[in-house]
Amino acid sequence: MENIAIAIDGPAASGKSTVAKTLAKRLGLIMVNTGAMYRAVAWATIQKDVDPADSEAVIKMLGEVEFSCGVSDNLSTILVDGVDPGDALRQDAVNQRVSKVAAIPEVRELLVQRQRDYLQLGSVVMEGRDIGSVVFPDTPFKIYIDASEEVRRQRRAAEGIVDELGKRDEEDSKRKTAPLVVAEGAVKIDSSELSIEQVIERVLEILKERGAPAELLGN
Ligand code: CDP
Ligand code: CDP
Repeated sequence: MENIAIAIDGPAASGKSTVAKTLAKRLGLIMVNTGAMYRAVAWATIQKDVDPADSEAVIKMLGEVEFSCGVSDNLSTILVDGVDPGDALRQDAVNQRVSKVAAIPEVRELLVQRQRDYLQLGSVVMEGRDIGSVVFPDTPFKIYIDASEEVRRQRRAAEGIVDELGKRDEEDSKRKTAPLVVAEGAVKIDSSELSIEQVIERVLEILKERGAPAELLGN
């Protein structure tokens, strides 16, 4: 079987990571969290005292810091100069910077290449903002998960995380390079009133409808 990419996109706290992780585990695929890669670049700007809005300085930093992508227990990993930033990737300072570094085309170019490389390792469930539109535009398996802003805010609050997600969504949707869009051919799922399990059931139906090989679906 040729390696397959399942693209899961959507705004903050729509449930992308949880759904992608559970689905990947169930199907034995590699789950790639692309947001963590953009967060790692944002985290590096804090470590190196680089202004995230100064694209020249961020681009210079890309040449001086090593970002290594890997897999552990079927989940993507990222090291910054050999260091795993861990939970620091979810901190408020990173939330505030990440959309700025993610708007820089050179940052995206570097990370999109790393994201495509994962397909050489096996079939992937990849979640982010531009997976169906830019990273794997030819995959038939594209899902866009949405939820109302109110529900998404409540989900983040329940996790005890400070995040101005409305602001981040706006920056992600308005940027010139690879904005958050419903990719051509993507199926939209509104998860506002669905449990994780219900979203997964729906994703599995979509994969089947779109001709995913039985070996992939495990039946
Ligand atoms: O978990 P949450 O949805 O809050 O965010 P994330 O997926 O960890 O992504 C963090 C940020 O990285 C987003 O707000 C985007 O600015 C950026 N991102 C992106 O530009 N493209 C992607 N494929 C994934 C994330
Ligand atoms: O990756 P993304 O930012 O899109 O969202 P997430 O981190 O997977 O999900 C945010 C939170 O919402 C998690 O705590 C999930 O357990 C919860 N969630 C939920 O309660 N119901 C759903 N249908 C989806 C997510």
